[in-house]
Amino acid sequence: KNPKQIEEILKPLQLSSETYGAIKQKMDDDMTNGLSTDQHTLADAKMYITYVRAVPNGTEVGNFLALDLGGTNFRVLLIKLDGGEVTMQSTIYMIPEAIMTGTGAQLFDHIANCIDSFIEDKKLDRTVELPLGFTFSFPCKQEGLAKARLVTWTKGFNCSGVVNEDIVRLLHESVAKKQIKVRCIAVINDTVGALMSCAHEDNRCQIGLILGTGTNACYMEKIERVQQWDGDDESPQEVIINTEWGAFGNSKALNFITTEYDTNVDKISINPGKQIYEKMISGMYMGEIARQVVIKLVDAGCLFDGVASEKLRTPMAFLTKYISEIESDEEFDNFVKTRQVLDELDVERYRVADCLVMQEVCSVVSTRAAYLAAAGISVLLDRVEKPEVTIGVDGSLYRYHPKFHDLITEKLSQLSPHKKFKLMLSHDGSGKGAALVAAVAWRIYCSN
Ligand code: BG6
Ligand code: GLC
Repeated sequence: KNPKQIEEILKPLQLSSETYGAIKQKMDDDMTNGLSTDQHTLADAKMYITYVRAVPNGTEVGNFLALDLGGTNFRVLLIKLDGGEVTMQSTIYMIPEAIMTGTGAQLFDHIANCIDSFIEDKKLDRTVELPLGFTFSFPCKQEGLAKARLVTWTKGFNCSGVVNEDIVRLLHESVAKKQIKVRCIAVINDTVGALMSCAHEDNRCQIGLILGTGTNACYMEKIERVQQWDGDDESPQEVIINTEWGAFGNSKALNFITTEYDTNVDKISINPGKQIYEKMISGMYMGEIARQVVIKLVDAGCLFDGVASEKLRTPMAFLTKYISEIESDEEFDNFVKTRQVLDELDVERYRVADCLVMQEVCSVVSTRAAYLAAAGISVLLDRVEKPEVTIGVDGSLYRYHPKFHDLITEKLSQLSPHKKFKLMLSHDGSGKGAALVAAVAWRIYCSN
């Protein structure tokens, strides 16, 4: 094994503090364009208006259905809000891959079927109309709280006939066919759910962050800075902006740090050239970046005596959860988890030295991801202009990676040295957040 060669192969993924500072600056500029009207088309981060303005105040009451689509699991939920108390029941339903890439009508009919089974299972009263909050975790141009046009699919979805359409209309058409009495009164992004559910517990929460299958963030922005704002000027003078930062880099702003591994990941994805920042960070892609590096090391004779199993050579076969497992191994563990992963990947011959290299690869890839995410959060922390800010976080990557939290905290302290911040795990934001937003909207809807 040649340590020099290993170093060379990993080097493009190890970036200096100045580089992260430069990325932060570029992202800040991009977000300024995103908020403007004249430069909006130039921006990658589109900074969508959510029409969610006030954070909940704990007085919300009622029974709500919620849908949670776009993360690891699709769920239907029933949420009871009773002032500060929140109780929830939820069921996970499968979305077959054929539906994820089929037609929009198939997708929404499938969702309606799931709602129907849920209502049946929970023995809900079919005669009264149930209000519903929809967590739809894709970029949408909202025209109001309950009108959201899909801009583009991201992650693993690509259903035809949905782009540019109002997803609430599509949902209502499918539920009407089954004569289910539900009314969708709010569509939110999962980042907004994370912010909302954390704000319910901590009123310093101003940022919602997702580090899961995809990555994205939202934050409370002053209306005077949102040139596209077309709502009223009533108080509060703030609105939540869904940055859709995953698209940052689509116009080449990240080309100066793009490695051959990133290029390969992008090439095999279902949306080449799109979601460049997301592809460097999130769970759907991080394992594949690591696999690309591993293959390069094997072919250079630096790993497994130059032999890779068929599984290891299969695109997307190295899951991001393997990175979390490998990095969870402690020194005295004798690489128990790393060995398990290698066994699962049918790697036949490996030594301790190979386990060490695998740990290094995973650590380099996840550190870059965490530091890149920190650069983005740092932009938002500066924009929020509050002395103390809580960041509500959700997503499988953040939950299960053993070092992500600490890596982000460390880099964020460097990039925003004068800010006091706290990363707080959101508890079921996509369910609770959707219900909270729906509750506020329902009150207004019913009183009109
Ligand atoms: C979960 C939500 O808690 O976090 C999802 O229920 C959301 O809807 C998610 O999208 C993000 O994480 P992941 O890892 O499921 O993509
Ligand atoms: C993707 C989606 C975005 C979502 C994020 C996290 O980036 O476009 O809307 O918030 O994934 O799920």
